[in-house]
Amino acid sequence: METADRTAPATVIVAIDGPSGTGKSSTSKAVAAKLGLNYLDTGAQYRAITWWMINNEVDITDPAAIAAVADKPEIVSGTDPSSPTITVDGTDVSGPIRTKEVTSRVSAVSAVPEVRARITALQRAIAAAAVQGIVVEGRDIGTTVLPDADLKIFLTASAEARAARRSGELKGKEATDLAATREALIKRDAADSGRKTSPLAKAGDAVEVDTTELTLDQVIECVVTLVEERRGAAEGREKAAK
Ligand code: DC
Repeated sequence: METADRTAPATVIVAIDGPSGTGKSSTSKAVAAKLGLNYLDTGAQYRAITWWMINNEVDITDPAAIAAVADKPEIVSGTDPSSPTITVDGTDVSGPIRTKEVTSRVSAVSAVPEVRARITALQRAIAAAAVQGIVVEGRDIGTTVLPDADLKIFLTASAEARAARRSGELKGKEATDLAATREALIKRDAADSGRKTSPLAKAGDAVEVDTTELTLDQVIECVVTLVEERRGAAEGREKAAK
């Protein structure tokens, strides 16, 4: 039975950053589902805008050409962790954004400041609208998009472990050998970490979790425990302020 002084859980904003293949998506989705939070895959948004640029024959090697049309596509993200969706101008692009072509070009598109400004504004609006809270995964969430997040996690793993995980995710024709996947992954991480505008980086107040030797379930449990601790502390503060 509900007690009279029972308050709703405090809204909790969780930022999960890290390079590719560290288990960010699987972890973020599972944590959000377990805790009744929304979920946002910000990489999917950068992939979606890249897909639109390719489809509209924008010269990906020309940052000015990308910047000029960065506000054109309408990108909508569905934030239910059990079935996240992404559309561009009403078209479901959840499949097409995972192709090799998009993957190989997304770093160049996402390095353009006008693209980042546009997508960052979208991300902040989605987080602000999440009633219970949200788990947002990406590269610059803790440092730039949501610097006031209640909990910031930075996931890492060895290049070998990350390449093995990514290879396992690739299907059919696109499944390449491990060495090629490792090369592509390292190249993309270097581009994402080296760009001028909000590069992949660990926030000073982020909790670093090395997932190399951990199972997915162990990583999920670790993050859920950390969120519950922070949420408990936030509820305590709210009660004390009343
Ligand atoms: O997480 P992912 O591999 O789907 O991300 C695709 C690309 O999007 C990644 O190479 C860098 C970019 N990205 C970014 O610049 N900032 C984010 N917050 C998320 C992704």
